[in-house]
Amino acid sequence: MQRIPEPELMDDETQAQAYADADFDTPHQHFIELFQEKFPQLDINGEVLDLGCGPGDITRRFARAFPHARLHAVDGARVMLSLANAINRREGLSDRIELIHGKLPHVELPQCHYHTIISNSLLHHLPDPHVLWDTIQRAAKPYANLFVMDLIRPASEQQAMDIVDQYAANEPDILRHDFYHSLCAAFTPSEVQQQLEEHSLSQLHVEEVSDRHMIIFGSL
Ligand SMILES: C[S@@+](CC[C@H](N)C(=O)[O-])C[C@H]1O[C@@H](n2cnc3c(N)ncnc32)[C@H](O)[C@@H]1O
Repeated sequence: MQRIPEPELMDDETQAQAYADADFDTPHQHFIELFQEKFPQLDINGEVLDLGCGPGDITRRFARAFPHARLHAVDGARVMLSLANAINRREGLSDRIELIHGKLPHVELPQCHYHTIISNSLLHHLPDPHVLWDTIQRAAKPYANLFVMDLIRPASEQQAMDIVDQYAANEPDILRHDFYHSLCAAFTPSEVQQQLEEHSLSQLHVEEVSDRHMIIFGSL
């Protein structure tokens, strides 16, 4: 199946609230565990950049897993940042998580370069995937650690629907609709590999970690 891009920003209030209310415990905990598995020696003490943070569930899990990390979390949708802000305050994490409103690639970051950059489920939202790799190259310190997770585009629309039925059977229609369109907008691992080669980033690893997720990780 050819890629079918979806709207870039998630700036509709109902859509953002449904996303914030959804149960992403399994894939988001998997994100943290895989990060720890791929960077076993890493003791983070400083700023981490989270690109496309949405309502911030991954950001908060990362902050809890690495108590000496401070996070700079970026999103282009104000409604997402407002949801993130409320939960961060409630959970006592707002002093370690700075929320930044801005759209890649033109976002102004509080710091020029980062030693660790993470991103979950942003890549498939971008009409032009090079925006992510350009931003990462601009924002990374030499030898920075990069960890990106995203969906894998299934082979057919029927397979996309089967994945939605398997993993989001009891979710509201708006979330099932978004999940289906996200799967159709995602890239395949070989397309991502091609993107990395075009950015001279072939030292990064692309690994399929479930029937619907891949990770891209390594040292920049
Ligand atoms: C599917 S959500 C992922 C949120 C979060 N990382 C998570 O895993 O729960 C993708 C987010 O990326 C944001 N986004 C999309 N394109 C963006 C861009 N060019 N710059 C900044 N944020 C963007 C959307 O607004 C949305 O909040």
